Amino acid sequence: MVQFTLPKNSKITEGKVWPAAPGTKNAREFRVYRWSPDDGQNPRIDTYQVDLDDCGPMLLDALIWIKSKIDPTLTFRRSCREGVCGSCAMNIDGVNTLACTRTMKEVPSKTVNIYPLPHMPVVKDLVPDLTNFYAQYASIEPWLQTKTPEPIREWKQSHEDREKLDGLYECILCACCSTSCPSYWWNSDRYLGPAALLQANRWILDSRDESTGERLDNVEDPFRLYRCHTIMNCTKACPKGLNPAKAIAEIKMKLVERQV
Ligand code: SF4
Ligand code: SF4
Ligand code: FES
Repeated sequence: MVQFTLPKNSKITEGKVWPAAPGTKNAREFRVYRWSPDDGQNPRIDTYQVDLDDCGPMLLDALIWIKSKIDPTLTFRRSCREGVCGSCAMNIDGVNTLACTRTMKEVPSKTVNIYPLPHMPVVKDLVPDLTNFYAQYASIEPWLQTKTPEPIREWKQSHEDREKLDGLYECILCACCSTSCPSYWWNSDRYLGPAALLQANRWILDSRDESTGERLDNVEDPFRLYRCHTIMNCTKACPKGLNPAKAIAEIKMKLVERQV
């Protein structure tokens, strides 16, 4: 039988254990993935005790508390703290989500386990390298493309056509969906993934855009689009309640329609 072993430097080790401060009455354990490109060490899991009586209710509050009260070297991204920027996406207790919009109470296990988004290269600790993800987004040319002369004031759109963009324009590019997709895990070099495809559909459906045919040509490819096997992990993962799997199915439908 074939046996697979991880390379030595990718094995996760036990890291530092930080005990609760004396007098802490209401602590919760956090186990957090740590890795630095600078020290040549294996990734490790550090264990912290967060004082819930001194900390806000969200998981991001706990990470900020750890960074400011215990360990300033803990590295993660965050900006808006209200589910708008997409930068605090990470894997919390096995679920890709936004740390700023998920409460600690929503995590059922007593210990909270936090890892970076799966199957992405890690820059440091909880920060994934999104270079390829953003390049894929750029490849769908996410801007209005027109051929007719520009109107004097603005490109108009009916209320009905505008409504067709609901469920698409709200995407904050957090990457929770793409990094939960098994097809993306194995083929992220060639498969665009659910986030970029949802964004592609946002422009394909925009009544003001005049490059619909070119946009469909751009995604019509066995890998860029058709690596989606409708597993639906993406839709389950989206913290904004969007449905990338449906958006991908709509693109496939449009490609069929233009054949007949
Ligand atoms: S539906 Fe498609 S994009 Fe979504 S998780 Fe499945 S394979 Fe990935
Ligand atoms: S579709 Fe949802 S999960 Fe995917 S990038 Fe957009 S907001 Fe994030
Ligand atoms: S910090 Fe902006 S989405 Fe969480």
